[in-house]
Amino acid sequence: MKQRGERFTMLTAYDMYTAQVFDEAGIEVLLVGDSASNNVFGNRTSLPVTLDELIPLARAVARSATRALVMGDLPFGSYQGSPEQAWDSAARLMKEAEVAAVKLEGGSAMAPQIERLTTGGIPVCAHIGFTPQYEHTLGGYRVQGRGEGADRVLADALAAQDAGAFAVLMEMVPADVAAKVTAELDIPTIGIGAGNATDAQVLVWQDAFGLNTGRMPRFVKQFADVRGTLLAGAAEYAAQVRDGSFPGPEHSF
Ligand code: KIV
Ligand code: NA
Repeated sequence: MKQRGERFTMLTAYDMYTAQVFDEAGIEVLLVGDSASNNVFGNRTSLPVTLDELIPLARAVARSATRALVMGDLPFGSYQGSPEQAWDSAARLMKEAEVAAVKLEGGSAMAPQIERLTTGGIPVCAHIGFTPQYEHTLGGYRVQGRGEGADRVLADALAAQDAGAFAVLMEMVPADVAAKVTAELDIPTIGIGAGNATDAQVLVWQDAFGLNTGRMPRFVKQFADVRGTLLAGAAEYAAQVRDGSFPGPEHSF
């Protein structure tokens, strides 16, 4: 698709029905992100989620998608230690969840891990720019690659490509930097908060479709009102139970 100049799409998914719906909608890539930490398990950051927690979610998504590429995130602490640790973790995601690819955070610094996985037969997407697992190292939630930092983003992207990555995901980098990286790379780029010139876009579905209505970063656009739909449905159900109109004779034996 990159060679044809066609943009493609990616959304997070963490369960059967969302995987089915997004697959049916033609979303090309489903990411079982470590953002499940915040969006499924109720943690404040992505750091606490474990491989043991992510694998069952990834398995549900992989079983439910008929067409989309299903990618699983390697959570914090499951790959940074060494290429062998990365191999063991990624192999578990491939074998136990049957995802088709994994994603990890880091470019140059994770090149040995990327090379170990790809030479062993595990397709890798490298996540660079703002990398949530390094929030405490980066000093907070902020745009990466401004000014001199642009060279760092490009170097990370090239290092990931050279190490064998099949895609690079850039989070919160200036649009012109992401455009330059996209033009320089042979492999596709996926953006989130990285402007309009990347080969693909990704969003967390609870953000994009209005289930999470908390404070949102600038790069999120709300395309649906799932929270409103569920609130109205739950309130209507409760009202009909309380006034005795549900269940009616047609729902009774
Ligand atoms: O975990 C996740 O949802 C992600 C996307 C935001 C890219 O890594
Ligand atoms: Na992630």
